Order: sequence, then structure tokens, then C-alpha cells
Amino acid sequence: MELPPRPKLFDFHGVSMTHYFTDNWENIQNFQARPDDILIATYPKAGTTWVSYILDLLYFGQTAPERQTSLPIYERVPFLESDFHIIPPGTELADKLSTSPRLIKTHLPVQLVPKSFWEQNCRIVYVARNAKDNAVSYFHFDRMNQAHPEPGDWNNFLQRFMDGKMVFGSWYDHVTGWWERKQTHSKLHYVFYEDMVEDTRRELDRLCSFLGLSPSAEEKERVRGGVQFDTMKKNSMANYSTLPIMDIKISPFMRKGKVGDWKNHFTVAQSEQFDGDYKKKMKNTTVQFRTVV
Ligand code: A3P
Repeated sequence: MELPPRPKLFDFHGVSMTHYFTDNWENIQNFQARPDDILIATYPKAGTTWVSYILDLLYFGQTAPERQTSLPIYERVPFLESDFHIIPPGTELADKLSTSPRLIKTHLPVQLVPKSFWEQNCRIVYVARNAKDNAVSYFHFDRMNQAHPEPGDWNNFLQRFMDGKMVFGSWYDHVTGWWERKQTHSKLHYVFYEDMVEDTRRELDRLCSFLGLSPSAEEKERVRGGVQFDTMKKNSMANYSTLPIMDIKISPFMRKGKVGDWKNHFTVAQSEQFDGDYKKKMKNTTVQFRTVV
């Protein structure tokens, strides 16, 4: 399949974007959320697919087992703002979902989320990942993903990450913006990728209590088994091997799934510069990240 050239970044309401996420903007803004919709919100590469899969198994693992073999994750959990032209736009996929609840994914910074999600007081699960691992994962993702600009070399990419010139804008603004919103929107569960790696069982329990679910111990273990990194990596419904804009031969979507891979990428000088800049950018927030577990 002939793919179009890599898109350019441009400024969209103060956030860097490519046209794949703005072409359908009118329908995105006017999207009608339902009260039982669950929005999975993340900065790209923070663990979106992992949490999406957990929620999908929790809600539909027992009742709709055929989903597990026939429906890729990007159709089960539509990516709201996406319009890749090779599959229907996210808003259309979401409108067509007959499940209840609907699980919907977004990478939008909090201020750009369609207002109906707030009006309907939807539950939102936000996943955040430490900046260094997030940047590394994003770098490899941009190598294999045609819907994003070429990453260039690691040093330039890291500078761009620090400048917030990434698709979906600044990591710093994203994680802090959503953190602030948590103070006023009580139905927002803020999860850290590092906590999920450290103790998936505990995080699964917290998630269930937020969602008001009480699966049996056996059911929880089934979910946990299904979402282990190696299992998801092999699962063609979860590993994005079926989406033509991604070339998992360049870099697999399920790449490493670790905390601390940044140490294999950052030089000492890059790490020091990054840490100094981080302190300044994050000085007004209370959100705390771990770069090791
Ligand atoms: P790495 O590139 O560091 O391996 P997203 O789904 O938001 O795009 O995030 C992708 C990142 O989450 C990738 O990180 C991927 O490997 C990791 N990931 C996906 N499923 C995972 C799992 N079950 N356990 C741990 N990490 C997972």
C-alpha cells in the first residue's frame, strides 16, 4: 500500500499537531459523549494501549470473547481525534460502537477535549509516564509511524521534546494540565505507568474500585495474564501489526515495556541538561514522577 509522505507539524490552538488529528476537528468538537463513556487519556507512549486492553478485558473479556480474536484494539477503543483516511475517523468509529460502556481513547491536552465529556461527567482514566522514558518511547515510535514527522537523530529529537514541539504538544503541559483537572473533576483516575509496572495487581484493584467493578479473583488474574507485556506483544489484536501506517519491522509497537530504558539512550550530559530544564518547567506542579522502580 502506497503511503502518503510524512506530515508536517503545525501550531493548532497553541499545540503542535499534524493534520491527521485536526482534519476532523468540527466533528471532534461536536462529539456527543454519553454519561457511561470512559475516556482513556494520555500523552502518546505513556501506556495507552496497555490500559485500553485492561479496560476492554474487564468489561468485555467474558461477555464478548470473539472480540479477542477478531477486533484490533484501535477498533475496540476508537482514537477520538484520529483521521488516518485508511480507517474511518475516530468519531465515526465511536459513534458506531454498540457496546456499553464505550471505551474511547484520546491524546488531546485537557483544554482541547470535547466539552460533552465534561457535561456528561464521564469517567476518565489518565495514564502518565516519566518524561525520560516517555521521550525514548516516542522517539522509536516516530521512526515507525507514518502519521508523525520523521524523528531525526536522538539529540535533536530530545531537544524538540523539551521544546514541546511534538505531536500533541508539550509533555510538561499535558501531564500537569490533566493533573490540575483532577482537582476539580472527581471522576478522573490518574495512573502512573511506573506504578503499573511495579505492581499490576495493585493498580488493577485501584482501577476496578474507580470504575465500580468487582471482578472475582480468578477474573482479575485472567485479565492480568492477558495484559502482560509478552502476551500483548504476541497478540496481533493488540500489537498494531495490522495498521498499515505503522511498520513494526522498523520498531515494534510493543518495544520494551520497561521503566528506566532512558539510561540506554541519554548521555550523562543530556540527562543533566534535561533534569535542569525539567526542574524549571515542573516547578509549579505537585505531580511527581519516578524514573526507576
Ligand atoms: P516502550 O516503547 O518503552 O516499550 P502507548 O500505548 O501509549 O503508545 O504506549 C506504548 C508504550 O507502552 C511502549 O513502551 C509499549 O511497549 C508499552 N506497553 C504496552 N503494553 C505494555 C504492557 N503490557 N506492559 C508494559 N508496557 C507496555
